[in-house]
Order: sequence, then C-alpha cells, then structure tokens
Amino acid sequence: MQKLRAAITAVNSYVPEYILTNQELETMVDTNDEWITTRTGIKERHILKGEGLGTSDMAVPAVEGLLKKRGIKPEEIDLIIFCTTTPDMPFPATANILADKIGAKNAWGFDLNAACSGFIYGLTTGSQFIESGKHQKVLVVGGDKMSSIIDYEDRQTCIIFGDGCGAVLLEPTTEDVGIKDAILKSDGSGRVYLHQKAGGSAKPASHETVDAREHFAYQEGQAVFKFAVTNMADVAAEIMERNQLTADDVAWLVPHQANKRIIDATANRMGVGPEKVMVNIEKYGNTTNGTIPLCLAEWESQLKKGDTLILAAFGGGFTWGSVYLKWAY
Ligand code: UT7
Repeated sequence: MQKLRAAITAVNSYVPEYILTNQELETMVDTNDEWITTRTGIKERHILKGEGLGTSDMAVPAVEGLLKKRGIKPEEIDLIIFCTTTPDMPFPATANILADKIGAKNAWGFDLNAACSGFIYGLTTGSQFIESGKHQKVLVVGGDKMSSIIDYEDRQTCIIFGDGCGAVLLEPTTEDVGIKDAILKSDGSGRVYLHQKAGGSAKPASHETVDAREHFAYQEGQAVFKFAVTNMADVAAEIMERNQLTADDVAWLVPHQANKRIIDATANRMGVGPEKVMVNIEKYGNTTNGTIPLCLAEWESQLKKGDTLILAAFGGGFTWGSVYLKWAY
C-alpha cells in the first residue's frame, strides 16, 4: 500500500476590522512608533471589538471561507483541532463551539494549547490522523483574541500582540507533497518567563487576582527574546539538516511573527534571503496561534505545487518547533 501523507488542500484567514495603530498606543502607554517599529517591526494590529465575541467568532468566517474555496460542506469535516491560548471559555473546548456554529455535525474536536507554537503542534497532530488513514478531512484552526488577556498598561507586552485567526484543511495524498517532517520541542521550566498567573486551577479567579492584574499575559520580554532567537533558528536549521535541504531547496520560510528581529535571525541561520521569508508582522503583530496560517493565506496565490516550505515557531511553555512540507496545490 502506498504511504499516505497529509496535505494542506485549502487555507483561509480572518482578522477583525478594528486597527490599533502605534499612534493610538502612544496615547495609551508611554511608547512611540519609532521604538515599536525598530524593536519589533510592528506598525499596527487588529482588535476584535464587541460584547460577547470570542476567538470562535473569528474562526467562523475563516473556516466558512475555507470550505467555500475547497467546495466542501461542513458535514464532511471529520476532526477539528482548534489551536488557541484564548479559548472562548475554559470549557467546553472552542473546537466544540466552532463545530456548532459552522454546522460541522459529524466532527469531533479538541483544543490544543501550546501558546505561539500551537499551530505547528496542531498541524503535526492533525497529520497523524490522516497518515493513519483514520480521517479524510481534518481542520486545523489557529487563532487568538490576544486583546482579551493583554494588559494595556504594560507597555513592553501590549505593543506586540493582536487578534486574528487562520485555518487549513488537511487531506490525504499519495503524491510527493504534504507534511514531510516535524521537530517539536518543549521546556516547561520556561513558564516563569511567559504565562498568565491566575484563572487556572492553581490560582482561580478572585477579587485579589483581578486587582493584581493577574488575568493578563505576563512576559519577561528580554528573557523570552533570548530563548526565542536561538531556539527558533536552531530548530529550523535542524529540520533542514535532517532532510538534507539547502537554502536553495527552500522556497519559503513561514515563521511565527513575534518580533522581526527573531524572524531575521532564523532566516540568517538558514541562509535564506529576505525574498523567501513571509513577513506580515507590521500589519498584524503577534496573533499567537494565528500568525502562521495568516501568512499562508496571504501568500497562497504565490505558492506553487511542490514548493518546499519550512514553518518555525517559538512561544510560551516554552514550546518551539519546525515543520517541513511541500505545498500541494
Ligand atoms: O511569541 C511569543 C514569544 N514572545 C516573543 O518572542 C517576544 C520576545 N521579546 C521581544 O520581542 C522583546 O523583548 C520586546 C519587544 C518585548 C522588548 O524589546 P527589547 O528590545 O527586549 O526591550 P527591553 O525589554 O530590553 O527594553 C529596552 C528599553 C528599556 O528601557 P531602559 O531600561 O533601557 O531605559 C525599556 O523600559 O526599552 C524600554 N521599553 C520601551 N520603550 C518604549 C520597553 N517597552 C517599551 C515601549 N516603548 N513599548
């Protein structure tokens, strides 16, 4: 029997309408456009406004657009993996909520939380169900409403993050395309540098936790930067070596968009020129699980069947990793 591989057969994304510019941030915290631009590469980010709206509300248009592009019905989806750090609620899973909202009546699903590496963890997990022959159509969604956990009084952190969501469909192929390799890593001792202190079982919500602003993302930027810049570059280089890929073989680097300087370091380490690197951080900031599918959706029209893509991410946990795939359409 021929080996089955999981191929991305459709991609789509959604960002909310409201744009939070560096100029507006200047009126909220002690910062300036020049600092943000030179330190991060970010100019603006999108914010989901509106009472009662959560991450699933960005996933609905992203997925509905994807289904339309692929010409399939929601009932055909077997599995939904929703990669997010900002689920609509602690339970049930946002995957369940999304299935209900889009009418994916035959799907089961779960949420996957690996912070900024969530999408590549989800892609790798989803591909196992395709490779085993268990499922035919797996939806991997990556999205976050980061504005729901950002402290807009913390100038070091609030300038980075934005809201957005993307999704891909995985289907089986026997051609020489699809997801070929993945290296995924984690080191939980890194949690001290990037986490949300309260709202979990170790520290449930109370008046005190709210007053202490502990329901927001806490980040020691410099420490995270040091780990991110080395580990994301190392793992991207490792996956290239393991698959005997040279920079010439790589058509695109698709990096998690946390900081332009981390992206540049990864590209340099791989020996890949800037013309092969997907960068849209200036428009969206760090949408956590959304960054990689937002890039894939934006560059979709430039991708050719057989193109070699290297995906790379680093995030809270710490978690990090890289995926090697060949574009399938
Ligand atoms: O995606 C998940 C993983 N997260 C990341 O990968 C993020 C990694 N970290 C970063 O991207 C960077 O560390 C930041 C963008 C968060 C911060 O940049 P930095 O170059 O590491 O700045 P820093 O913390 O070393 O601060 C340098 C200076 C400090 O002032 P002094 O002490 O030198 O006088 C800060 O107080 O910049 C100051 N500063 C700011 N100034 C203007 C910090 N934030 C701001 C700000 N505007 N928003």
